[in-house]
Amino acid sequence: MCGIFAYIGKKDDAAEIVLSGLKLLEYRGYDSWGVASKIQNLKLNVLDNNKSKIKFQIDKHIGKIGDAKLSAELKRSSNLAIGHTRWATHGGVVEKNAHPHLDCTRTIAVVHNGIVENYIDLKKMLLSKGHQFISETDTEVIPHLIEENLKTKGFASSVRDAFNQLKGMNAIVVAYSLSSEIVAAKNGSPLVVGKTKDEFMVASDTAGIIKYTNQVLFIKDNEMVILGKDVTLLTLPDGKKIKPQFNKITWKVEDATLGKYKHYMLKEIYEQSKVIRNIAQNYTQQIESVGKIIKKSKGTFFIGAGSAAYACLSGTYFFSKIAHLHVNMSSASEFNYLEDFLNSRSLIIALSQSGETIDIVEPLTRAKIKKSKIVAIVNVLGSTLYRMSDYKLLLGAGPEKAVASTKAYIAKLAVLYALSYAMVDEIEKANQDLLEVAKEAERILDAKYAKQIQRIAQQLAKAVHIYTIGRGASYPTALEAAMKIKEVSYVHTEGLAGGELKHGPLALISKGSPCIVFAPDDETYDAIISNATEIKSRGGVIIGVGPLNNDVFDYWLEVKNIGEASIIAQIIPIQLLAYHMAIIKKLDPDKPRNLAKSVTVK
Ligand code: AGP
Repeated sequence: MCGIFAYIGKKDDAAEIVLSGLKLLEYRGYDSWGVASKIQNLKLNVLDNNKSKIKFQIDKHIGKIGDAKLSAELKRSSNLAIGHTRWATHGGVVEKNAHPHLDCTRTIAVVHNGIVENYIDLKKMLLSKGHQFISETDTEVIPHLIEENLKTKGFASSVRDAFNQLKGMNAIVVAYSLSSEIVAAKNGSPLVVGKTKDEFMVASDTAGIIKYTNQVLFIKDNEMVILGKDVTLLTLPDGKKIKPQFNKITWKVEDATLGKYKHYMLKEIYEQSKVIRNIAQNYTQQIESVGKIIKKSKGTFFIGAGSAAYACLSGTYFFSKIAHLHVNMSSASEFNYLEDFLNSRSLIIALSQSGETIDIVEPLTRAKIKKSKIVAIVNVLGSTLYRMSDYKLLLGAGPEKAVASTKAYIAKLAVLYALSYAMVDEIEKANQDLLEVAKEAERILDAKYAKQIQRIAQQLAKAVHIYTIGRGASYPTALEAAMKIKEVSYVHTEGLAGGELKHGPLALISKGSPCIVFAPDDETYDAIISNATEIKSRGGVIIGVGPLNNDVFDYWLEVKNIGEASIIAQIIPIQLLAYHMAIIKKLDPDKPRNLAKSVTVK
């Protein structure tokens, strides 16, 4: 979803700073982009009033930023600039719809993430007052609303009143060339402020900011911040001043940059052993305290979206098998239709890498009204989910920038596994197992193994349909494996519970149908091998994943036996497989078509 970056401070290459900030946010997914910079227009007739001298100049483009250069106009000296990568919602992917959007005087520049649900009425009112529009977007009403308000009040109040008139979940950042100020306000979609001694930046997330500072302020919903010589924080809609709390983030620049890797997806796959080791060595205390909360809960629900939903499903097997605790699970988008049972005794365990997924934030906002308690297992400090929850467990996986979740997914499994053992007072066993998983991850990621994976990828890259099957806790792994392959290689892949094959999907199997079979050495082994035999006897090609080779396998991807923790390690070969399939098909594994890293609008 959209990326926002704005700069105000002592440097005079604000537009360049904003452009490089947008590049750090590209992973969020977009289809066009733009930068506006406050430029002193010396050519203008000096008789004009002062207003006409300092305006915004804008560059707008469709497509990716890549190696784009700013126009000569924007290269001129400026200490105030604002930029945006747009994920189209209202209005096609054309230059005029790219943000920033300006008012009639070109002294107000606005970027926006969200949907202004009442923009048609607002646009009609503004047109009747003579305002000129050039785009088809909902966003463009915002600068004109502010322009209208400026006729009777100051800039910050004009922005506040304009924001209060917007319906829907929105985050806006507004720059004003005449006062050299930035005002940001939100009631949905993340915004974070970074500061140094004498400059401020505003971005959609910390990945855009850590290059400049580790001092960040997470703007909460219904808050507004004014940045100029200093920082002022107000509550909305009333405008009451509150003290801004800056956090020190521990992420480092190299965490959010490619380093020696060609793609973030590969880098993040290779970071998994470090991520799991970190959980095993540094999370015991937090996991034990959250484990106590979960253990005594009744009417507990796991919710998550996409890969996070599959991690939730894995959690139900871990909790049942290890802690003998029954927990329901629902994909977050479906939870909207299940939540009527919620009450003050309910506990919702929400899993999310970004902590901004709208499918999670919306039902949890309603759950809080019913006084349900929320556990957040989340990767981004200060994210909406992190802030709205009663109990928090950070994944500590570092910034995950590839759209396809790998290290955050496996971190969720590791935390859930440790929570299961914490609930039966055996977290040390979990930690030992997780250290074994970290070791196994390193073995799987060594060069020899990768060669075998590339060979299989050559075959599967040509496939039209692929199947993945597993039983028990390997069933969610089969779903996640299917997600990884389809998400980055665009090959249709269906994840199935092995026991479901004969109830229909077996009809799909024909000569050459590739099927990935998760066969850990556990209670599911014999049954999943017989499922593999059923597929093989109908011409299927079997890729076995597990500690034991077997005659039914045409290919075998070994994952050593680590007891119940094998479930965590067994996804790694398939993450690599999906990556190599994308490379073979000359696709960008980091930015798959149609997808965004964080789904912050419905
Ligand atoms: C995972 O590979 C996908 N990119 C997607 O399913 C993702 O897991 C989902 O959108 C949830 O995101 P979140 O973890 O940030 O909430």
